[in-house]
Order: sequence, then C-alpha cells, then structure tokens
Amino acid sequence: MVKNLRRVIAAELALHKHNKVNRQGVVSANAQTYHIIENVLPAEVYQGLLAAVDELHSTAVRENSHWRKGQALGGHELKQSAAAPWLDYFSSQPFIEKLRSATGIKTLSLVPEVDTNRLSLLFYDEPPAADESGDGTDWHMDGSIYLGARWAGILTLIENTNDRTSKLELQPHGEVTKISKTNLNNSLVLFQGDHVLHRVRSLIGGERRVVMSLLFSDWPVRTLNPWLRRYQAQVNLAFYGSSQA
Ligand SMILES: [Fe+2]
Repeated sequence: MVKNLRRVIAAELALHKHNKVNRQGVVSANAQTYHIIENVLPAEVYQGLLAAVDELHSTAVRENSHWRKGQALGGHELKQSAAAPWLDYFSSQPFIEKLRSATGIKTLSLVPEVDTNRLSLLFYDEPPAADESGDGTDWHMDGSIYLGARWAGILTLIENTNDRTSKLELQPHGEVTKISKTNLNNSLVLFQGDHVLHRVRSLIGGERRVVMSLLFSDWPVRTLNPWLRRYQAQVNLAFYGSSQA
C-alpha cells in the first residue's frame, strides 16, 4: 500500500516534469523505439471497418456534417457509429496478446474506456479547391496523462496517396524516419508520441487517408494532476469537438 503510494507519487512528479520539458526536446533515449505490426486485424474485422468507414463517409457527405473533411471521431462517438460492431475486437485477448508479444511489453493495455482517445477514427481528405494545405499536422510531441509509458498506435485503414511512403513520419533519436507504404494497410505503428516527434504530411487533391488511433500504456492509470487533466480536455475539444475525458 505504502509502496504503491510512493510509486504513484514518484510517477506523478516525473509526469509533471516530463510534460513541461518534452516540447523542448528533453525526452528519454529509452523511449525512441517504435514497432510496426503488419496484418494486425483479422481480415473480417479489417473489411468490416472499411465498410463502416465508407458508410460513415457517405452519411457525413449527405448530412454535410462538420467532420466531412479531415476530421476525427472520438471513442465515445465511435461506439454509436456504424463501426461499433467491430470495436470489441480491440479489447479481445488475441489482439492484446499479439501486441504484447510483438513489443515484448507484458503489461501493455489499452487505456480505460472513459478516455475518448482510447480508440478513435481520423479522416484525412483532399483539401477543398481554395485551400492549398490539406489536412495534416506539423512536427509535434504529444502530452501524456498516464503514469505509465504512453504508446500511441496508428492503424492504417486506407492510405490512397501518390507517395511511396506514409504521410505519417516519426523522428526517433531526432532522425526523420519514413514508413514504407508496402503492407501499410491493416498495419499498426506503435510509438511513444510524447517522446518521439511525429507529423502527418498534408494530403493533396485526390488523396485519402483513414486511420484508427489507439492509445495504450504499460500502466494505464491517469494522473490526478488537475492541470494536466485540464490540458487534455482542451486538446480533446479542439480535436473531437468534445472535451469529454
Ligand atoms: Fe500526435
């Protein structure tokens, strides 16, 4: 009990400091590893998600809804969407065991369901004619609200682009690393986005990219630090249009 309390306090202090300095490039050299796990979903789950994405996209276009181009659907909304029947697989033992054996991280788990970033869907579409810059994000470092190591997972559903490498790029150890498009569909890129700079290059006309974003931790306990929790709520609001968890 006391030992656990000490561990929690030490982790809270380390997390607070980490979030302050990681944007200045102060990151752990031990957190630069990334993993690419190909064929991560069984074919029927992957195909089911593709069909759901098509349906979500056409509904959005028909309704002219706000996430029509380059937008995100948070975990809470995703559960109410056409993708819902396929989401259980992500909580299944075969899936998590596959990731644990691929990474060697024995306690790797999805973060709790209350966190809308646990499992979300991101659409990147070609920019409107008047807008030169397609939806993308410049080099950045994520924040973390988890006491354990935070692992971001990008599962590519569709990446129809003119490039030979993925729009997603990482900078482990400060070196720009490109990810091959070969077998990119249905693969999961796992990296510590609060320690490794990353970006998504802009799309141009005719290109389309749809990914699922997953969030894992080896100790998925959320900080009690109110400043960090408030920061995360603001990020969620900007990203998903909802500040919920
Ligand atoms: Fe990020």
